[in-house]
Amino acid sequence: MKSEIEVLKKQKNAVILAHYYERSEIQEIADFIGDSLALAQIAKDTDADMIVFCGVKFMAETAKILSPKKKVLLPVFDAGCPMADMATKEAVLKKKEELGNPVVVSYVNTNADVKSVSDICCTSANAVNVVQSLKEDKILFVPDKNLGEYVKENVKDKDVYLWDGYCPTHELFSLKELENLKKEHPNARVAVHPESPKAVRDAADFIGSTSGIINYAQNEDADEFIIGTEEGVLFELKRTTTDKQFYIIGKSSICENMKKTKIEDLYNALKLERYEITLDREIMEKAYEPIKRMVEIKRV
Ligand code: 13P
Ligand code: SF4
Repeated sequence: MKSEIEVLKKQKNAVILAHYYERSEIQEIADFIGDSLALAQIAKDTDADMIVFCGVKFMAETAKILSPKKKVLLPVFDAGCPMADMATKEAVLKKKEELGNPVVVSYVNTNADVKSVSDICCTSANAVNVVQSLKEDKILFVPDKNLGEYVKENVKDKDVYLWDGYCPTHELFSLKELENLKKEHPNARVAVHPESPKAVRDAADFIGSTSGIINYAQNEDADEFIIGTEEGVLFELKRTTTDKQFYIIGKSSICENMKKTKIEDLYNALKLERYEITLDREIMEKAYEPIKRMVEIKRV
């Protein structure tokens, strides 16, 4: 199947993008693996005719909005993100009115209609820089309360209002689990994703996106790392380091949606050109500007 995927890819001038949380078999065959910011940038710049996005729906939608003329495929049609579904366009507009018209910053983990009513998007890699870049002081941050709180802690001169959303995978990390791991591995450095709860973030040596965590563990002069994010990052960490040990908080931290894509789904996606991302034209046009602003802002 892998060699057939290679053939189909060439025939169709397709590029395969995979997030770090995807199954190892998918990361192995992808042309690019990355965090959500890197993959959005690649989707914007690629000269392929077709983008097969092995990730979740909001990522493929973002790719489509940035490259509207390309065919963007999501190999599993219901690979969604529960956090993205925690904010609707109507609820965001209502909250915006209640708060007296703040600037809406939406995490890229949102559905396209929410992006279409946002002023700017961000990823976990550049959220602090995005909020810092704004001239306005009043901000509604949607939908992740943990990432929003992290931004608030780092941008003290702005009023940041939080939404009540969260990632079901990261939200489960507890300080107790982290402390137990620290007892077992007292020399380990702790690197966590900002979607983690505050108690876990506060006990970390490093907070950053999936790429940020990987870079930190690759470059930090330590042999052991406690990692607070989805276990898919272990593939890249093990591939690129030798003699380093990694321990995931919560033992098996899995995003079920990222794990839905199997090699046969990727093969079928390329062969049958499914499942194509199509979006309402007006939503795409309105969501373009906030996403374009996002990809122009540097990671921390
Ligand atoms: P990154 O922005 O670090 O890739 O994370 C995306 C995500 O969905 C985290 O749960
Ligand atoms: Fe969404 Fe969490 Fe999965 Fe990331 S890990 S895609 S935020 S459910």
